[in-house]
Amino acid sequence: MQAVQLTDHGGREVLTYGEVPDPEPDADEVLVDVRAGALNHLDVWTRRGLPGLDLDFPHIPGSDAAGVVTAVGSEVTRFEPGDHVTVWAGVSCGSCEFCRRGEPTLCVDYHVLGEHVPGVHAEQIAVPEDNLLPVPEGVDWSTAAAAPLVFGTAWRMLIERGDLSAGESVLVLGASGGVGHAAVQIAAHAGCEVFATAGTAEKRAYAAEIGADHTIDYTEDDFARAVRAETGERGVDVVVDHVGADTWDDSLRALARGGRVLTCGATTGGRPQTNLDRIFWSQLSVIGSTMAAPGTAERACQSVWDGTFEVRIRETLPMSRVARGHELLEGREGFGKVVVVPDGAYDG
Ligand SMILES: NC(=O)c1ccc[n+]([C@@H]2O[C@H](COP(=O)([O-])OP(=O)(O)OC[C@H]3O[C@@H](n4cnc5c(N)ncnc54)[C@H](OP(=O)(O)O)[C@@H]3O)[C@@H](O)[C@H]2O)c1
Ligand SMILES: [Zn+2]
Repeated sequence: MQAVQLTDHGGREVLTYGEVPDPEPDADEVLVDVRAGALNHLDVWTRRGLPGLDLDFPHIPGSDAAGVVTAVGSEVTRFEPGDHVTVWAGVSCGSCEFCRRGEPTLCVDYHVLGEHVPGVHAEQIAVPEDNLLPVPEGVDWSTAAAAPLVFGTAWRMLIERGDLSAGESVLVLGASGGVGHAAVQIAAHAGCEVFATAGTAEKRAYAAEIGADHTIDYTEDDFARAVRAETGERGVDVVVDHVGADTWDDSLRALARGGRVLTCGATTGGRPQTNLDRIFWSQLSVIGSTMAAPGTAERACQSVWDGTFEVRIRETLPMSRVARGHELLEGREGFGKVVVVPDGAYDG
């Protein structure tokens, strides 16, 4: 079968698409015929290499993919051939202190399919049944593939970790990205007043379409000052910051007293200067969040499947052109998710 492969860490030239052995499912695994996959910024980090990430090359990347079950191992109970499924990429040990208390994302051995272990951007995949979520028939493959990681992560971050309440004000940075566009929709649906930053007028218009009440061009305006001006100098209750070093200080400036900043990523770097005076004097909370429990991801996805939330697709590419997909993410071109389809199933 054909699969996307990283031949090494490096630039986009290390991405190839070629022949690999067909996967054979273990007893607890499900064989899936992949109809679509989706890129996350994580695919860029994995390609470039991360501290402590020691991969065997060639490495199949990819954390999001959806398709049809073609076979199941002898221990599989939840799925059967013909079912439509999508991947949930988080893997936890099930036995450490944190797993036992029902917090799988705090697992001491937490890892992610496609990052630490082979991923799912291939024609066929064999994955543990614990890493699959059911998809109702009728949900299109791009939506099924692109929803789990970003809607699961954003739901965990805003609803579970951030404890959002109706009537609160929320600023979402990078609203054009995968996590950002999920966060805008979740905050709007929770009954919050949503502020969103995005880098172009077109992206701001899309952010407004999916639920942002106010949009800010951070390339033109100081977004913290803009938010304070819009809120009568009060600031917002919550900031969602996955951008990192470039925005961190302004995220704190945009918060109201007693506000909370939620972080799940640091696209521009993870070592920002921070203003401790502001954190203790204004009694701010810094709340980290990573991935989600499978049940949380399934809950978030149900609201995609039923049409409450929508996955915006910035471009659909054959897997052999995955390097172009990385270019879209790295160049901040477009709005929403990049979908990659096995070349044999690509009809675009
Ligand atoms: N911890 C977790 O579980 C978890 C899960 C998912 C993602 N993440 C992390 O969260 C981050 C976002 O992931 P993603 O997949 O949503 O990425 P993405 O789709 O590539 O979106 C990133 C967005 O960030 C914005 N951005 C980039 N540089 C910026 C800058 N200098 N200033 C302001 N905005 C900037 C861009 O918006 P504009 O075009 O408007 O500039 C872009 O749309 C990544 O770092 C990723 O690793 C973590
Ligand atoms: Zn564990």
